[in-house]
Amino acid sequence: MAHVRSLFFEGPLAEIEDKAVKAFKAGRPSDVIWNITNRCNLLCDHCYMAANAQGCPEELSDEETIALVRQMGERELPSLFLSGGEPMMRNNFWEILELARSYSIRVTVSTNCMLINRDATNRLKANGIAWIATSLYGPAEFHDQMVGIPGAHQRVVEAIRVLRAEGIGVAVKTAISQGTWPYVYDIIAETKELGCGLIYFCDLITSGRSEGEDDGRITPEQWRELGDFIIEDILSEESTLEWDIGAMPSFIPFVAEKLLAHGIDVSNGLERLKTISACPVGKGHMNINSEGGIMPCQFAQDWTIGNIRDISLQDAVAELYALDVQEAKGACAPEACEYSRICRGCRAKAWQRTGDAMAEDVTCLLHAESDRSALAEHIEAAEGFVRSAPCSTPGSCG
Ligand SMILES: C[S@@+](CC[C@H](N)C(=O)[O-])C[C@H]1O[C@@H](n2cnc3c(N)ncnc32)[C@H](O)[C@@H]1O
Ligand code: SF4
Ligand code: SF4
Repeated sequence: MAHVRSLFFEGPLAEIEDKAVKAFKAGRPSDVIWNITNRCNLLCDHCYMAANAQGCPEELSDEETIALVRQMGERELPSLFLSGGEPMMRNNFWEILELARSYSIRVTVSTNCMLINRDATNRLKANGIAWIATSLYGPAEFHDQMVGIPGAHQRVVEAIRVLRAEGIGVAVKTAISQGTWPYVYDIIAETKELGCGLIYFCDLITSGRSEGEDDGRITPEQWRELGDFIIEDILSEESTLEWDIGAMPSFIPFVAEKLLAHGIDVSNGLERLKTISACPVGKGHMNINSEGGIMPCQFAQDWTIGNIRDISLQDAVAELYALDVQEAKGACAPEACEYSRICRGCRAKAWQRTGDAMAEDVTCLLHAESDRSALAEHIEAAEGFVRSAPCSTPGSCG
């Protein structure tokens, strides 16, 4: 995940990107995606969490969730995503949210919007929620079919209008697949028309209800076409839309190469990427599922490093940092790819495909034969890398 505009320019999320970098350098968690429940009021065809009406049997108790928020507050977590399932279905959702906000954690609620009405909007606003993230997949009929509920698209659009009227920022998320590809540009237009400030495109994750659907991914050519459109939008004076790309780290060097070719100074972005690469695995980023499982990445739910019932948040951070010192292999190894350190390829896809998280990312969208020398020179020129040397993690030296 990387906020493309804010990474290279002063976009709306530059401040939070800087806080994440600072947290990582100080050996603290930089961002946590927490699926507070796996229950859901929709049944999307593609859901990698395989969320359903029942949820998971061993969900954290209310007391355990509160203890976890306290740990997050004490470790000065900059950014927390409350996700699911449908997070607003958890009975102590508001308690979790209010406590997190009392520690000044920046909370984003990742919701399908089915439970967002005027009251909920006011309550989100009263809790200082700056952004929510919700999902749109295309025109009403297609969207409703994908999420399994007639009228769902209309309800999301109505909720977005209420949220925007109250000044809450809305990020629109879409899983990019051969199924949603025909509607990608319509979704972008709808996002702008609804006054949403961010669009998040995530490459299809082939687990949960998308298990085995590797052919459902769009091709590198399609990603490059979309990339050219996004670069044009970022460079146009009229647009301020932020773009976030999930599970496709090579998108970032792709954009950097193009910006450089336009004569744009990419050094600020490269500085940040040398600390937190386009794939954030091992960089203070983590996912906690509804049963307390701790994952280096939300996109590989079977890649666990422990359970928050057994280890502290800080020990989990230290454990995850150990992944940062490992080099990627194959086409993503430093000797094979000049962008290895700023990109690293998608570690979750490597894990899913081979069981080795350091294996190569076969979904790289860069041409194998592309000339990487110009950007590589700039990467060399930027300041040194911040790797997680033992002493950068407070408490680990003694
Ligand atoms: C798991 S949902 C949880 C939050 C909320 N229930 C929602 O749907 O917005 C978070 C995001 O993951 C996306 N997602 C689900 N399955 C996916 C998959 N197989 N590939 C890529 N994105 C996926 C959804 O479209 C949604 O935008
Ligand atoms: S994608 Fe979101 S709304 Fe759809 S089933 Fe999964 S958790 Fe529920
Ligand atoms: S080969 Fe791997 S590290 Fe290099 S740009 Fe592609 S995905 Fe990133």
